Amino acid sequence: MLERLERLPIDPILGLMGLFRADTDPRKVDLGVGVYRDDQGHTPILSCVRRAEQTVLGRQATKSYVGPTGNIGFNQAMARLVLGEGHPALASDRVRSIQAPGGCGALRLGAELFRSAQPETVVHVSTPTWANHIPLVSGCGLKLERYPYYDPATGGVKFDAMVGTLEGLSPRSAVLLHASCHNPTGADLSEGQWRELLDVFKRRSLLPFIDIAYQGLGTGVAEDAFGVRLFCAELPEVAVAVSCSKNFGLYRERTGCLHVISESPTAGDAILTHLVRIARSIYSMPPDHGAAIVQEILADPTGREQWIDEVTAMRKRITGLRHQLVKQLARSCPHRDFGFIAAQRGMFSFLGVDTAQVRALREQHHVYMTDDSRINIAGLCADNLEYFAQAVAQVLRN
Ligand code: LMR
Repeated sequence: MLERLERLPIDPILGLMGLFRADTDPRKVDLGVGVYRDDQGHTPILSCVRRAEQTVLGRQATKSYVGPTGNIGFNQAMARLVLGEGHPALASDRVRSIQAPGGCGALRLGAELFRSAQPETVVHVSTPTWANHIPLVSGCGLKLERYPYYDPATGGVKFDAMVGTLEGLSPRSAVLLHASCHNPTGADLSEGQWRELLDVFKRRSLLPFIDIAYQGLGTGVAEDAFGVRLFCAELPEVAVAVSCSKNFGLYRERTGCLHVISESPTAGDAILTHLVRIARSIYSMPPDHGAAIVQEILADPTGREQWIDEVTAMRKRITGLRHQLVKQLARSCPHRDFGFIAAQRGMFSFLGVDTAQVRALREQHHVYMTDDSRINIAGLCADNLEYFAQAVAQVLRN
């Protein structure tokens, strides 16, 4: 039976990791997979993580299961981090949380929850959205549709078109939103636009499903959660998928959680029984290590302060690189305006070149990015910025 299976195409993001590793040219530049890198091109373990990890390992007395909802202390700390201390949804006991294997696990749990509640739910995603949103959400059988989002002409959001589409959705449609640092475009909603969207969600009774994977890496820890905090305060039901991969640098530890805000504590308790059942049927219980580390960091004032300092340093490096890149590109490609890159936020931007040019960058210049020309800004550094800008200039000339 299994011999019937045909070979599948390689994942557009993960496939690049293999291609990059296999390239032996010393000039190679990895702007593919979205991991933070320092100026030496390393993805370091944060100091706050190293410190907390020692404490966690020293204290650990068992390897027994963590339990169906995972680490409760972690879940609560993450709810306070995302929503802010004293958030009305927390004060009214309307938040229920489950630890998940990374942000991906949280997204799948959320989608499965919608399917349990309403199998015909349609989930609307931005055009474009993170490539893995598609299989994660539609893989459980939900229908997926798209709303307009990125405007390549301005590098910003096509807000009127987005609102126009959302206004036309039927009640109880789910809408997947990126809290900040939109992946793959870097084009974020302003606070004013979040407020306008809130009215649409209220009027049309839409269900927001918010993916927050870069808190602290865009504008600030509180600023990057502005939309989540607003929606969770003002709407009866919101699902929030959280990842600790990037802002805690815990990629391989698969650390994340799903928060569901519902109308009442009783509704929340019922929802949690469904989430536990769903998790049990997929992976049973989450891993312990990453969540224990994050819990330790957030519970310890010194650890927390150290994390804030480290996430701030990562953000400043990315923002600085955005400005340096715009300057380099202005020198190497004076006839094209790349200024939008400095106005965008987070790890990603679209360079705005076509697939043939992306291939030429890879094959002729050893510069790796996804075919849609998404670049991971954090993959740039003092040593490769000029090389990269000149490579772009060359493929644009050809
Ligand atoms: C990315 O967008 O490159 C990251 O989120 C890594 C991944 O799993 O795709």
